[in-house]
Amino acid sequence: MLILNKTARVFFKPSKRKVDGFLRSFNFHPGTLFLHKIVLGIETSCDDTAAAVVDETGNVLGEAIHSQTEVHLKTGGIIPPVAQQLHRENIQRIVQEALCASGISPSELSAIATTIKPGLALSLGVGLSFSLQLVDQLKKPFIPIHHMEAHALTIRLTNKVEFPFLVLLISGGHCLLALVRGVSDFLLLGKSLDIAPGDMLDKVARRLSLTKHPECSTMSGGKAIEHLAKQGNRFHFDINPPMQRAKNCDFSFSGLQHVIDKIIMQKEKEEGIEKGQILSSAADIAAAVQHTTACHIAKRTHRAILFCKQRDLLSQSNAVLVVSGGVASNLYIRRALEIVTNATQCTLLCPPPRLCTDNGIMIAWNGIERLRAGLGILDNIEGIRYEPMAKVDISKEVAEAAIKVPQLKMKI
Ligand code: KG4
Ligand code: ZN
Repeated sequence: MLILNKTARVFFKPSKRKVDGFLRSFNFHPGTLFLHKIVLGIETSCDDTAAAVVDETGNVLGEAIHSQTEVHLKTGGIIPPVAQQLHRENIQRIVQEALCASGISPSELSAIATTIKPGLALSLGVGLSFSLQLVDQLKKPFIPIHHMEAHALTIRLTNKVEFPFLVLLISGGHCLLALVRGVSDFLLLGKSLDIAPGDMLDKVARRLSLTKHPECSTMSGGKAIEHLAKQGNRFHFDINPPMQRAKNCDFSFSGLQHVIDKIIMQKEKEEGIEKGQILSSAADIAAAVQHTTACHIAKRTHRAILFCKQRDLLSQSNAVLVVSGGVASNLYIRRALEIVTNATQCTLLCPPPRLCTDNGIMIAWNGIERLRAGLGILDNIEGIRYEPMAKVDISKEVAEAAIKVPQLKMKI
């Protein structure tokens, strides 16, 4: 397998025999022509090795995923070289499984689409190197994919959504609000000034030692918080949402994390327990952090909707808000957003939970979208580059508009 080394920036070629053997297992016939567009998508930007084969009508022909969550939960976070090694060990099997499940031969593929940014350099390198080797062997076009664009456009695979629409991406690595005007036309309205909400929830879950909790031991931090919060009372703690005075659409979560840290320390003292043991008030803390996170996200999104409507960037009566990314699978946060979309006559759409978290389908689908639009398809893979998701950042304009958001009752 070709491996991109982050520091040395060199490629290590896998043996040709290995890739040839891999292709032979599919009865590969170079030069065969097929009419339907079919894309193989490969995702390795963080801690999931995923692949999928999707056709132009949105049919998922085959899918496979290997999650590293359990390993990283044990080490208390992602260690990039460990993630890289796990991707190396699994990528061939995962791509093979997705292709086998699809029942098509590699020669039937119209293109190979792979996440090339953003993400962990060591992890991205494994997917990219493997894909380039396949592209070279199969003589297929290559489509470099921006992970967040793929999250943003996934909804068009499951629902009939026309451009423009507003998208809120909330995950472990990202937090942004953007107006999607086309397959590769994004206007950035706001982003997190520090960490992403999933990262904050993961840190709080780790600080609460939720992997030791019998009900949450195999859950991601955010999922564990959502699960525990159902048993807690958010009113036991009074926490102010971040950035209340900043009338823009930016986010911040590290201050909230520190506030929660202080609460945990205080509770450990009160309950007389050591760091690393489970607090009796863990569920109340989970409920409070989840509620504050939901209110903060809802308020910034509410402002973004008002701004877009004020500037006629979104339809007055048919506006759509799409929420995606790992944190979007949180039903409490979705309900907070529902309160906002009901108050602004917008339609709230979320891909199903398995398409909110990282997966190969969204990468393959983004490849299909790009093939259909004729955008970013490379026949020559030398010197691959990729532009940022949102080339136009209008977050300053949003701040200048200083829209005062009406208070909504967050009875979730
Ligand atoms: O989109 P994703 O799979 O990977 C990134 O691109 O970051 O998102 C993973 C993040 C993790 O931080 C995880 O804790 C969070 O999404 N997450 C959740 C839930 N499920 C996953 N956060 C809140 N509630 C959930 N149910
Ligand atoms: Zn993601």
